[in-house]
Amino acid sequence: MLFMFNNYKIMSKVSVRRAKLNEYSRIKFITKLAYKIPYKKDTLVTKPHESKDEECQFKKKKVHILVATAGNKIVGAIRYKLSKPNNLYFFKLAVLKTYRNAGIGSLLISELEKIAKKKGVQKMSLDCAKEKKLDRYYIKFGFKIEKVEDKNRHRLVHMSKKVYSFADIPKCAGLTNYITPVFGFLKKIPTGRVVSYGLVAKRCGLSNPRLVGRILKQNTEPKKIPCYRVVREDGRLADGYKFGGLIGQTKRLRADGIEFDGAKIKNFKEMLWKGSR
Ligand SMILES: CC(C)(COP(=O)(O)OP(=O)(O)OC[C@H]1O[C@@H](n2cnc3c(N)ncnc32)[C@H](O)[C@@H]1OP(=O)(O)O)[C@@H](O)C(=O)NCCC(=O)NCCS
Repeated sequence: MLFMFNNYKIMSKVSVRRAKLNEYSRIKFITKLAYKIPYKKDTLVTKPHESKDEECQFKKKKVHILVATAGNKIVGAIRYKLSKPNNLYFFKLAVLKTYRNAGIGSLLISELEKIAKKKGVQKMSLDCAKEKKLDRYYIKFGFKIEKVEDKNRHRLVHMSKKVYSFADIPKCAGLTNYITPVFGFLKKIPTGRVVSYGLVAKRCGLSNPRLVGRILKQNTEPKKIPCYRVVREDGRLADGYKFGGLIGQTKRLRADGIEFDGAKIKNFKEMLWKGSR
């Protein structure tokens, strides 16, 4: 309880903004300090290499930095650059030891995602050291592992996440044409199976899985049209199920025989229905 209160106290003081040019040495300092202290005893500490070129790139605005501040003090930072094609690459996420586990790292990543959306970027990516076990941290934000690479005795995990910009989503009016095919598709899902938003989009000719969510919101007959069988690509449920939220959706899936492992559907891959046209 005290822990939660402390987190609340920290987060109520924290805000995120773009770094100013004269703040580079402070950012460099806190990054160095943060990287010296691992997340757990058995995780490896990697020293961040800070080249002169990096400072130059920041000054030339080729690399950008978001900082988290508590009061006037910078306590966390994340660097990023827009790289080709349509990719926002980020690196050197760092939070000072005394401010960890309060949500600052998560806040920096979600602010970065907002920037990516505004810029119309299609993908966010990063590389992290396998030894640091940080892949699990990023998976929580929806990042997926692209590949693991051995590089000079380091095992690098390349991760990425698709970003959908709101500009991609046409106005709801045009979507009405898709209601019949989507609802028709949902009716075909066998009991005890689920489908991803992506699959519904693909099968029904929608350009973006997010549009599926909008169409599901038009459902007024949850018993006839089982929109609760549409879940996220990672086996979790999306927020906002129209008929009782997460609890309502979980209940209906359980009644179908679907089991859960924490927030995730158990044996998700086997439960996924690949669909028919
Ligand atoms: C990684 C780091 C930025 C996280 O910042 P943070 O503000 O503590 O993160 P948040 O508060 O948003 O998240 C904390 C959660 O992430 C988990 N987490 C943090 N580091 C982790 C790691 N290396 N592996 C797995 N989980 C990790 C915590 O256990 C906690 O989980 P919980 O919410 O289930 O309790 C911070 O630990 C840090 O500065 N580390 C050293 C530098 C570093 O390794 N940077 C990343 C380079 S890619």
